[in-house]
Amino acid sequence: MTQQPNWSPRFESGLHPHIARFNASINFDIELIEYDITGSQAHAKMLAHTGIISESEGEQLVSGLEQIRQEYRSGNFTPGVDAEDVHFAVERRLTEITGDVGKKLHTARSRNDQVGTDTRLYLRAQIEQIQRQIREFQSVLLDIAEQNVETLIPGYTHLQRAQPLSLAHHLLAYFQMLERDCQRLSDVRRRVNISPLGCGALAGTTFPIDRHYTAELLHFDAVYENSLDGVSDRDFAIEFTCAASLIMVHLSRLAEEVIFWASQEFGFVTLLDSCATGSSIMPQKKNPDVPELVRGKTGRVFGHLQALLVMMKGLPLAYNKDLQEDKEGLFDSVKTVTACLESMTILLRSGLQFRTHRLADAVCEDFSNATDVADYLATKGVPFREAYNLVGKVVKTCIATNKLLKDLTLEEWKQLHPAFEADIYQAINPLQVVAARNSYGGTGFTQVREALKNARAILNLPTK
Ligand code: ARG
Repeated sequence: MTQQPNWSPRFESGLHPHIARFNASINFDIELIEYDITGSQAHAKMLAHTGIISESEGEQLVSGLEQIRQEYRSGNFTPGVDAEDVHFAVERRLTEITGDVGKKLHTARSRNDQVGTDTRLYLRAQIEQIQRQIREFQSVLLDIAEQNVETLIPGYTHLQRAQPLSLAHHLLAYFQMLERDCQRLSDVRRRVNISPLGCGALAGTTFPIDRHYTAELLHFDAVYENSLDGVSDRDFAIEFTCAASLIMVHLSRLAEEVIFWASQEFGFVTLLDSCATGSSIMPQKKNPDVPELVRGKTGRVFGHLQALLVMMKGLPLAYNKDLQEDKEGLFDSVKTVTACLESMTILLRSGLQFRTHRLADAVCEDFSNATDVADYLATKGVPFREAYNLVGKVVKTCIATNKLLKDLTLEEWKQLHPAFEADIYQAINPLQVVAARNSYGGTGFTQVREALKNARAILNLPTK
């Protein structure tokens, strides 16, 4: 039989060893230890502040908890399964350090409001860290974009050549996705940053506690209004995992593009040795493992979101042990998003190079300027649909005769429609094709330069 944590004398014998392991969360919730200590210190200060314990008892609890923090940091505190969870582990050690005073820490508190407090403090810190990483990643995207305003890249719809783009415009699309991610995290943070401490097991407490005092000490913005809701709400964890899933969606879309850009068929980027791997058998290979892993890891974050939703569905009020299952998925989501953001930042900053000559050739070898021929005619008064049909026929003839639009002679253009003049060649030149898309938010260079300015402002960088 395994030693019981702290159960009351109504228990006569210990847990079956298998059940002790099954029940325990210490192996993973040890991740919360520093937040548990901080939360307990605030609780101890509140107990002293309200006179529930004496000032000196409060001080002993706070310094005993600080000692545990140092012991943990120096590797001298490694509680095992017999402690069941991090909360019991810390309380037990505190009682070893401070004697009977330690036994007062849990006055007016339950592990139910405690674990909710810890998880929120943890997530708040992680959100701030992820937001810093997003900013870093955005600044790398911005750097590359600033150097590539007039670098052209084929733009696709349905993965078919559509219209050429400024490479900067393409990268700024990801900048914007990440911007929404950052804002979404700020929004999630507002609901993470609410204190359940003092909700007790489910119904509040008979002691004259001060929940606003602990909330203030822990820099929470507000307290839960309803104790049952406070101990059993995991919306904040679901919302975070949803925001994390969207970050992964964005990273994996870029990862996918990098993967095919690096293929021989596209050849738009070269992978540098620092971020590429070889094959154990094919000596010529250089593989894009980094973006592939990012793409591959995306699914596990989606899985955690699904697991959390299913865990909560149909759960009666208030705390149920099911809720212990919220942590591993949450921690793994944080770790996955963090690792992927970091790796993609390194990949873009120093692990790949755009092959600008190849890109320049690419935009000249297709019909992605066909819309511009139709627009040319429409500007000269031909109704757009008519112009569109005419250009469709031209493209068909060009394909049959193995020509591109730029290969047609002025005479041929004029035979197609009398409105064509010599300036058609300028209109279908890829640089002009891109420059001309000067509508707000478009890929025209003037627009892109504006967008770059705005992006710099978002990152609080000085204007160039
Ligand atoms: N280890 C538990 C968890 O993670 C702490 C709360 C336990 N509460 C309880 N009533 N058994 O959820």
